[in-house]
Amino acid sequence: MMEINDLVVNVEGKTILNGVNLSVLAGEVVAIMGPNCSGKSTLAYAVAGHPKYQTSGIIKLNGKKIDDKSPDERAKLGLFLANQYPVAVSGLSVNSFLWQMHKKVKSSQLRVTNLVEFRKYINELAVSLNLNLDLLKRSLNDGFSGGEKKKLEILQMLVFEPKYIILDEIDSGLDVDALKVIAKTVAKTAIKNKIGVLVITHYNRILKYLKADKVIILEKGKIVKTGTGKLAQDIEVSGYKNEI
Ligand SMILES: Nc1ncnc2c1ncn2[C@@H]1O[C@H](COP(=O)(O)OP(=O)(O)OP(=O)(O)O)[C@@H](O)[C@H]1O
Ligand SMILES: [Mg+2]
Repeated sequence: MMEINDLVVNVEGKTILNGVNLSVLAGEVVAIMGPNCSGKSTLAYAVAGHPKYQTSGIIKLNGKKIDDKSPDERAKLGLFLANQYPVAVSGLSVNSFLWQMHKKVKSSQLRVTNLVEFRKYINELAVSLNLNLDLLKRSLNDGFSGGEKKKLEILQMLVFEPKYIILDEIDSGLDVDALKVIAKTVAKTAIKNKIGVLVITHYNRILKYLKADKVIILEKGKIVKTGTGKLAQDIEVSGYKNEI
């Protein structure tokens, strides 16, 4: 379970989040929606431990306070964040990045210790995501299209074997078919392993395949409304002005 209590986040002297309370149970999908600049990505970064985001309040993973933990310590507890804008790292191939990641996952269900086997496994996952296999040999996100970057975030998620998932606009830049594949992959992973998913999105369409148990609207750094999947549908039709 991921718990966030009275979270206040300051960035460069400015208060961006102002007392956010939410929880994501194991196996639950919680959608965060809200207008541009409402603080959605700030919430994701603060939970992941980005050093630029100063926080007060309490963030817990499985009952354990993580506020003073570094991003890598949080990752070791099983927290995975798919970024809204994935970063390119030239000189680091996707294959070796994923292999290094796999070796760090102590509780791996897969336990592949052989690089040849691992490549086979990665290739199968890439095919399931309709990701061009040539990308695996290239530098991480370097020159990748918007959709390729998002698919690669999900490939990383699968290799990482997370316990808690935060997806920040994973649906932006994806074509309709890719969106369906990715949303279904996340839903399947979440159900199979009872993972809590916090999915940040502007659109109801991803929630057609990744059903949200709860939809939360963030505005100007505060939660202004909580509802069910119906709330996301209503926002798509009427916009925020009429719903909050
Ligand atoms: N590192 C930073 N430095 C300065 N300002 C920041 C920083 N991070 C966030 N902000 C500001 O905080 C506000 C909220 O930004 P955030 O990225 O969290 O919004 P968002 O809800 O994710 O928006 P979008 O839907 O456009 O992705 C914005 O005004 C943004 O400029
Ligand atoms: Mg954002």
